[in-house]
Amino acid sequence: MFLCFFVAVPFIDALSQAPAGTVLEGVFSEVQAKRGQAAYSENCGGCHGGDLEGISAPELKGNHFLERWREDMLDTIYTYIRENMPLGRAPDAPRIPDNEYVDILSHILKVNGYRTGESDLTLDLLEKIMLVGKNGPQPVPDGSLVLTVGCLSQARDGVWILFSATEPARARRSTTSTPAELNASSQKRLGTLIFRLADLEAVPDFAPDSHKGHKIQAKGYLTRQPGAERISLSSMAVLDSMCGQ
Ligand code: HEC
Repeated sequence: MFLCFFVAVPFIDALSQAPAGTVLEGVFSEVQAKRGQAAYSENCGGCHGGDLEGISAPELKGNHFLERWREDMLDTIYTYIRENMPLGRAPDAPRIPDNEYVDILSHILKVNGYRTGESDLTLDLLEKIMLVGKNGPQPVPDGSLVLTVGCLSQARDGVWILFSATEPARARRSTTSTPAELNASSQKRLGTLIFRLADLEAVPDFAPDSHKGHKIQAKGYLTRQPGAERISLSSMAVLDSMCGQ
């Protein structure tokens, strides 16, 4: 019991900064999921299967599916579907309306076992609701593209590290960051984690020597390894020349 509590503390701290709301809270209605089921059958089921089990395309339910999308806001999967699905659609084919895509997403959530609520899921809520597993928010999966904020330093063995770093969060753009993303990173309170930074030399336009002790947003692929957590970098952005808090 004590151990659980001890391990969870820094993570809960990081989550307290995340926008509230997860798919566990009944974020779509029964009626909406029904509408979504009809639209899904018409536009998606031929490849992904009537029960989302996957035929000529990946399954859209279960663990494997969840690992790809969890710990991210619903707008990421929504945007992916809206921009790419149905796969191979003719350019002149009529587009599925945005609200219908949201209905389809609510059907996918329903089949994955998430409970319904009073109101429909709407477009403006997608970026505020996190897709999480049944046990609620968890650390992002190993190997994910992540974003963390911390202080840049060089260890005695010459390895560059980020210390006082925040719990890694999902990122979707590896080399660029939106102003909103940078702004959110600037506002983040520092954490307690340390990451070794791999592939720093591959990051364009970043001279680490001139940013020692600065507050940095790092993006890259996460490798979890007790005592040697590592990020293989894809981008570095300087947030502040101080790294006090
Ligand atoms: C013509 C077949 C086809 C149709 C129709 C289709 N898809 Fe797909 N879908 C695919 C294929 C193939 C992939 C894998 C693409 C890849 O990995 O790049 C995919 C991938 C996906 C993924 C990502 C799966 C993952 O790996 O987690 C989602 C979500 C998805 N489709 C949703 C939909 C929805 C919703 C519709 C209907 C609006 C739809 N698809 C219609 C073929 C299809």
